[in-house]
Amino acid sequence: MIALVSFVLFLISSPSFQASALDFCVADKAGPIGPNGFSCKDPKKVTVDDFVFSGLHVPANSTNMFKFGFKPVFDAQLPGLNTLGFAMARADFEKGSAVPIHSHPGVSEITFLLEGKVRFGFISSDNTVYQKSLVKGDVFVVPPGLLHFAFNEGDTSGTAIVGFSSSSPPVQVLDLALFQSNLASPVIASTTLINLEEVKRLKGVFKGSG
Ligand SMILES: *[C@@H]1O[C@H](CO)[C@@H](O)[C@H](O)[C@H]1NC(C)=O
Repeated sequence: MIALVSFVLFLISSPSFQASALDFCVADKAGPIGPNGFSCKDPKKVTVDDFVFSGLHVPANSTNMFKFGFKPVFDAQLPGLNTLGFAMARADFEKGSAVPIHSHPGVSEITFLLEGKVRFGFISSDNTVYQKSLVKGDVFVVPPGLLHFAFNEGDTSGTAIVGFSSSSPPVQVLDLALFQSNLASPVIASTTLINLEEVKRLKGVFKGSG
């Protein structure tokens, strides 16, 4: 009996029993960022709102040259996601929209098409293209880090919910890496075999320099 009482007293007084620090690491955006994400917010300051994101029913803004809207629900938008290793987003594909070829280094992706007819594809490291025109209800998965793309093949807009195997998925967009960066045009021309005039035109389109 005495042993039980002392065990209970030990549990109550031990730091790990004062739970929440171990239950979650809600993002403290003011703190330093480490390899696993944001610093942890003081658990005493955490509220339920740290675990809630609202407004995903509203389409993402797709006023851009690709007519593609993307609304992330990552750790930056939903602090409770910090360190959990997954995240989601809403994607809106206007009629005629295209998602430029991009990759998420080290991260895999799963997409659930809610509306529309959208072609999704990825390119494996042996340059095989795996692509399919998806319709409402289809789910498409992209293995980690592979280049992938999408474009709307339908007469209406498309909407998808996307999941990622990271709370803060990185993205590298091929067009932007080449043409929005300051990598010198002659270097791009000689490394891609795209002629210099076209490289310069694309630098203009994407507002790159060099
Ligand atoms: C959508 O984005 C465009 C381009 O960034 C911007 O000009 C426009 O104001 C945005 N629309 C809304 C409703 O936020």
